[in-house]
Amino acid sequence: MKIQQKKVAASLLSCDFARLKDEIEMLNNSENDYVHCDVMDGHFVPNISFGQPLIKAVKAHAKQPLDVHLMITDADKYLEEFARLGADIITVHYEACTHLNRTLCTIKQLGKKACVALNPHTPVLLTEDILPLCDMVLLMSVNPGFGGQKFIDNTFSKIRTLKQMIEQKQLQTLIQIDGGVNTDNAAQLYQAGADVLVAGSSVFKSKNPLQTIHNLKN
Ligand code: DX5
Ligand code: ZN
Repeated sequence: MKIQQKKVAASLLSCDFARLKDEIEMLNNSENDYVHCDVMDGHFVPNISFGQPLIKAVKAHAKQPLDVHLMITDADKYLEEFARLGADIITVHYEACTHLNRTLCTIKQLGKKACVALNPHTPVLLTEDILPLCDMVLLMSVNPGFGGQKFIDNTFSKIRTLKQMIEQKQLQTLIQIDGGVNTDNAAQLYQAGADVLVAGSSVFKSKNPLQTIHNLKN
């Protein structure tokens, strides 16, 4: 599977979990590209979301690839399990991985796309030596842990710097933006160099999620 550009990854964190199957059916019938699943452990981030059983349930119904964002301290321990349960893209946090090179190599050996997430305070320059191993870099545009937060504006300069680094090295690495994405800032984010936009509350709390997904892409 090749990750393509100008894409939307709807984040299930803001969906109605009592209607999970319906929410996934809605995504199946939409222009959404990836199903973004936020796994939180209450240690790396101050919130607990969901884990393996939910990923398995989502995989059983979702037609789009699963984009699993691990906000956990010990990602290495769970990579194989998330791969087996159906993750297509596995994202780990720069700030949580002591041996990031090894972690990314493991994800690739499992046959999955490897993505590194950076918190808002982490400079993109720190990805210099790891970039060739990244299929995608996720820039957090809010502090991770919760949906519905306000977009942090310095994300724009981070996108531009990262884009330059990727082009200089002639890599195919994609840039994903996560947090506070909506129909007001989507076009600007793509323009700055973003390839994949994660959208939680702007999709699932909107009156017409199908239309919102369409608007985010166009
Ligand atoms: C936050 C998660 C996001 C979250 C985004 O820690 O990584 O994926 O669902 O939610 P919104 O789009 O509402 O900011
Ligand atoms: Zn996320």
